[in-house]
Amino acid sequence: MTFQEQLDGLIVEKHTIPEAFLLPALINQKTYLSDGELITWDGPTHEVFSPICIKTANGIERIKIGSYPVCTEKEAKIALDAASKAYNDGRGEWPTMSVSERIKCVENFVVKMLEQKSIVVKLLMWEIGKTYADSEKEFDRTVEYIYATIEALKDIDRDSSRFTIEQGIVAQIRRSPLGVVLCMGPFNYPLNETFTTLIPAIIMGNTLLFKAPKHGTLLHYPMLEAFKSCFPKGVVNTIYGRGNVIIPALMESGKINVLTLIGSSKVANQLKKLHPKVNRLRAILGLDAKNAAIVSKDADIALAVKETVLGSLSFNGQRCTALKTIFVHQSIANEFIELLNEQVAKLQFGLPWEKGVTLTPLPEPGKPAYLNDLIEDAKLHGATVMNENGGTIKETFFYPAILFPVNHKMKIYSEEQFGPIIPIIPFDDIEEPIQYIIASTHGQQVSLFSQNKAELASLIDPLVNQVSRVNINCQCQRGPDSFPFTGRKDSAEGTLSVVDALRSFSIRSLVAAKLTDENKEIINDIVASHDSNFLSTKFIF
Ligand code: G3H
Repeated sequence: MTFQEQLDGLIVEKHTIPEAFLLPALINQKTYLSDGELITWDGPTHEVFSPICIKTANGIERIKIGSYPVCTEKEAKIALDAASKAYNDGRGEWPTMSVSERIKCVENFVVKMLEQKSIVVKLLMWEIGKTYADSEKEFDRTVEYIYATIEALKDIDRDSSRFTIEQGIVAQIRRSPLGVVLCMGPFNYPLNETFTTLIPAIIMGNTLLFKAPKHGTLLHYPMLEAFKSCFPKGVVNTIYGRGNVIIPALMESGKINVLTLIGSSKVANQLKKLHPKVNRLRAILGLDAKNAAIVSKDADIALAVKETVLGSLSFNGQRCTALKTIFVHQSIANEFIELLNEQVAKLQFGLPWEKGVTLTPLPEPGKPAYLNDLIEDAKLHGATVMNENGGTIKETFFYPAILFPVNHKMKIYSEEQFGPIIPIIPFDDIEEPIQYIIASTHGQQVSLFSQNKAELASLIDPLVNQVSRVNINCQCQRGPDSFPFTGRKDSAEGTLSVVDALRSFSIRSLVAAKLTDENKEIINDIVASHDSNFLSTKFIF
């Protein structure tokens, strides 16, 4: 098949879409979860169009897959009051519940979430154009993450179910919730990255306001009933509407104790500043990144190319961890680019349900035009698109472009493209990429490609103090989920991992007393009566 035929194959007639991947019907979301009720919304709605286009009588159109409520500040404030009431200054049923009971609620939730797997996976694919295989992986990884979170919390609780005695003082130290959490996830991992903050936040006893990402909203709809039935009233509340309309008032209220956002540093900055009591606000943020790869003259070029392809083009480059700048030593640049061209050309592009496809249409409406603009700007400043068909656009689809040589005058040098462009910067002196990383406003990860151990060793020490993960001869990535995931500068605040997230959404509290006979008796009696969930030696098996 020629490139053009393949490109034309991206636009299909609806009846040719395999039955197994179709949504059962238009998903018109009519309800949202607030204060324990699924409330019917009859106001304005937002129509959801898939990045997948079809031929219609009116020409080529994005397929409409449904709609969701566009609520107002009023509904958002009601949801905030519900979350505040459920938290009740730490006195609510949920924040005072025993850890084992909270775990049971989350376990029930997972069972119900699994019942919705088929529709959630399809919605993931239709809403953001992620391949069916990767959408399934995202669902499964999320479920595994929840189970791992439960196990990690059991461990934390087991360690806390004993007393510590120091300098004549006896104490029981546990982790306590922080309050009301405002949780917002990203469109690229709308399920996984939302749940890796949402689940730890609730399991630690916080109550929640949850705003689904702009693309990747509907897939949460089938799980609302599970949220409603598995958690006490007001623990999980959903808010819908334009972020810039409904979120500022929530922050200005001062009632949000934790902001957790996986998104842009610009939005995070603006929101944090709206809170009237900055010191009371915790922020757990996963933000922009512009991870670099440094391919030295001593690199295994084939390996570096393989990892560059994975790192910069998985899910069309729409990963915060994606490799977004590739420094290649001048002496091997030609060979590297030649091999990279070959490997990129082998990638299959098409519709997300097709077997073996890795490149798919993009969900953000203005994205192909933005990427094209980056390419035109780079060309103006001396770069060339090195691969055949690089940068070709077909409606919502953008074919990967390899740009070379990239320099500091180009926007792509510092802007996070979050899409399928691979900018290659040649260097002579290793100090050049190091200086780039130092000057960058981002500081998430870096990938180093070299077989020279002395060279790697000399790079590791300066770079671990610039970014939060140095990857040797492999792409940047978040996983495994037990590893700390964070960043410096504008790339993150707080650390996520199965265990770290539990810490991030809680604070250590302790009950302490002088070790007198009277106090020993008081403590023993409280423990024996099981009247306190905090002062307790119950052990979770
Ligand atoms: O968007 C950023 C994600 O956290 C990246 O996760 O490295 O597993 O794709 P990943």
